[in-house]
Amino acid sequence: MAKEYEYHVFQPITTAQYQESVYKAIGQNWALLTSGNKEKANTMTVSWGGVGVLWEKDVVFVFVRDSRYTKELIDSSGVFSLSFLDHDTYLREYKYMGAASGRNEDKIAAARLHVAMNLGVPYIDEAATVILCTTVFSQVLTTDAEHFRLPGLDQKFYQNGDYHTLYVGEVVKIMCR
Ligand SMILES: Cc1cc2nc3c(=O)[nH]c(=O)nc-3n(C[C@H](O)[C@H](O)[C@H](O)COP(=O)(O)O)c2cc1C
Repeated sequence: MAKEYEYHVFQPITTAQYQESVYKAIGQNWALLTSGNKEKANTMTVSWGGVGVLWEKDVVFVFVRDSRYTKELIDSSGVFSLSFLDHDTYLREYKYMGAASGRNEDKIAAARLHVAMNLGVPYIDEAATVILCTTVFSQVLTTDAEHFRLPGLDQKFYQNGDYHTLYVGEVVKIMCR
């Protein structure tokens, strides 16, 4: 009989205790952006985003194109998380989550990863660090080329009109293993 999966134990840390380089953690290591609820969750790989402070809140910024299934879940649930898994150990999973769509398959089960919930936010249990967020703001990064102050960006990244929406999430908890 298959052994039941045992969830990992995480310790909470404060935002001030978070000491990762975001350039390294998001840009180089990548993260899994997870959203949904207990019944239905999905995750996708992200390598663009940031953490910071806005409207007196500690926040996370992520950028999600219109075509992503994860976007539908963020819009309907109002919550998301960033799960940081070790890049080398989980490179296959990161590539799969960044290529396949949860619209067509249960990616998390197929990759043999596990979703857990904390404070109503789904996250990937195999992560070393998790940032749980509630969405406080979202806005599509414009269909209007005049907003691109650096000429060429619009042409380079949005030729097919698949624009990013910026999501600002308030950090509700950071958890480390
Ligand atoms: C390294 C890497 C980084 C990515 N970063 C982003 C990102 O920041 N925003 C985004 O919209 N898509 C990004 N993607 C693409 C999505 O992960 C990909 O389209 C995924 O299949 C969407 O899954 P979904 O339809 O299940 O949401 C990235 C893909 C890879 C491989």
